[in-house]
Amino acid sequence: MHFSLVTLFPEFFDSPLSAGLMAKARESGTVDFSFRNPRDATTDRHRTVDDRPYGGGPGMVMLPEPLAVTLRALREDAPRARILMMAPRGRRFTQQLARELAREEHVAILCGRYEGFDARVEELFDIEPVCVGDFVLNGGETAALNVIEAVARLVPGFMGKEESGEDESFSDGLLEYPHYTRPEVFEGLPVPDVLRSGDHGRIAAWRREQSLAATLRLRPELLPEAPLTETDMAFLRHKAAETVERPGRNLHCALVHYPVLNKEKKSVAVSLTNLDIHDIGRCSCTYGLGGYYIVTPIEDQRRLLDGILRHWTEGPGLAANPDRGEALGLVRGADTVQDAVDDITRRTGQRPLVMATSARGAGDTTVGQVRSILAERPVLLLFGTGHGLSPHLVAACDGTLRPVRWMDGYNHLSVRTAAAIIMDRILGDCY
Ligand SMILES: C[S@@+](CC[C@H](N)C(=O)[O-])C[C@H]1O[C@@H](n2cnc3c(N)ncnc32)[C@H](O)[C@@H]1O
Repeated sequence: MHFSLVTLFPEFFDSPLSAGLMAKARESGTVDFSFRNPRDATTDRHRTVDDRPYGGGPGMVMLPEPLAVTLRALREDAPRARILMMAPRGRRFTQQLARELAREEHVAILCGRYEGFDARVEELFDIEPVCVGDFVLNGGETAALNVIEAVARLVPGFMGKEESGEDESFSDGLLEYPHYTRPEVFEGLPVPDVLRSGDHGRIAAWRREQSLAATLRLRPELLPEAPLTETDMAFLRHKAAETVERPGRNLHCALVHYPVLNKEKKSVAVSLTNLDIHDIGRCSCTYGLGGYYIVTPIEDQRRLLDGILRHWTEGPGLAANPDRGEALGLVRGADTVQDAVDDITRRTGQRPLVMATSARGAGDTTVGQVRSILAERPVLLLFGTGHGLSPHLVAACDGTLRPVRWMDGYNHLSVRTAAAIIMDRILGDCY
């Protein structure tokens, strides 16, 4: 496989491409490299490759001309080369992309410097921007080295045993299991017995479980896309249940019936609906929430709620449908939002962060922010009935979640649907 590197600093690659397995792979001809320096395509006395940005601002931009000359020469020599451009705004580099690139005969990589490339280069040539992570490096050379190493080691013949590239982190969507070598006991820590048992079936099963447990603990966002068997799922379910710090338990929600807006935008109290109590209760239970509050100060509505809850949690409904009893066991009445806040504070020992939800406005908090807060403290999500939470209640909250489907013209969801979507976005299957 051939890599062409378009760089102002070819010498940058001297040492990394001359060490270890890479050196051997070059010797055996498994991979080889060529370098093109855009500075060689300049025509002025100073061999200029950059200039100030139009529109002002800091830094310099790589001139399009030397790059265009370099890329035209590259295209002529290697018409089928796949050309990547290292750029923070590019497609994220992953093991999957590495596998895809390892099937190419020729990969060319453009390494940027300064503020990057003049944007017209990308319009003129068939180039794929690629990013190695959400951070900014000084130049594309270190990013290119990431790509080269990850791709080259998947090229047949690079590693002694070809399978070793198939049994690693990300190769099957999971993190890898832990490795151990001699001595058997190191500073008091023994190697797990199973690894010395010689029983290959047990070792494989143990490794799979370690891999699943590590992914659940460290990178749960990988699990929804990972291919999982029923055995894997049963193991993860069991593991998740014993992980006490699952953040779903820190999430609480309240369905507010007062103060909410009516059609005329006046603050009013609205009546309870059986469907909202049941459906949001079932959703809260499914996502493992810490509690679901029905907020209404109206006495007869509270009595109605108590009657419904008694029926399902201790009355005839419980025997008829115990699952429903479990879900409604999570529901509590509260006269005001403050009462719900006080109840959570009493039960968890921490005052919850109160987060409003709304179909309008820009919001000031993202789902990701709520997810990180949950790791530290409880959050109470407020859902409004009627035409939404009253503005003075929203203003008293600690924040407002960005609306669901805010980019579309129509986002009139029922409160049950909005609650389900928001819970899923915050907690998904694996948080
Ligand atoms: C200082 S950076 C330019 C950053 C650019 N102004 C921006 O904010 O996106 C210079 C060069 O480093 C490379 N680079 C920096 N961070 C990168 C990343 N995370 N992934 C891929 N390339 C990166 C690119 O080639 C880029 O043109």
